[in-house]
Amino acid sequence: MTWRLNRIQFCVPNTTSNSSLNPSEKAKTPKTGVDRRGFLARALAIGGAAVSYATFGGFALRFLYPDTTGEKRRMYLASISSLPKGKAVVVSTPSGKRVVVLNTADGIRAFSTICPHLGCQVHWEDENNHFFCPCHSAVFDPTGKAMEGPPASDGKDMLAVEIALEGDGVFAWV
Ligand code: FES
Repeated sequence: MTWRLNRIQFCVPNTTSNSSLNPSEKAKTPKTGVDRRGFLARALAIGGAAVSYATFGGFALRFLYPDTTGEKRRMYLASISSLPKGKAVVVSTPSGKRVVVLNTADGIRAFSTICPHLGCQVHWEDENNHFFCPCHSAVFDPTGKAMEGPPASDGKDMLAVEIALEGDGVFAWV
């Protein structure tokens, strides 16, 4: 018995398009390009990273190269109503200095917390109504005048900070 072929048909799979694949086969097919969603995700990630690096860089530069012009800036320190008589609050300035604001019987005063002797940190003691430097047991009265310890011997009082009272606010030039 002899068979004769009148027509030979070759079937070649289409490798350029997966439109003939069913959905489960399409899901298995690896994507070769970047679709719109992927592009947006990458763009957002790159943009976010750029903003983060720029912000970090700005702070790093400011830390490495602080403002050394010596120009003083007006800064809000505290509200008078939140500062009862005999109480003090310590505020840090943008340049890293610390200012203690004290509500005395004679009004609001502000001082640098740096001890005029060797630069330790002075703090206010409510219970004793004076400033105290723990490094060499120096005592300063509420006006910043040195009363005991090396600063008193040397005649070095606390460094006063110029302030201005506006409404309920205490401002300083720091
Ligand atoms: Fe303050 Fe010496 S550093 S008393």
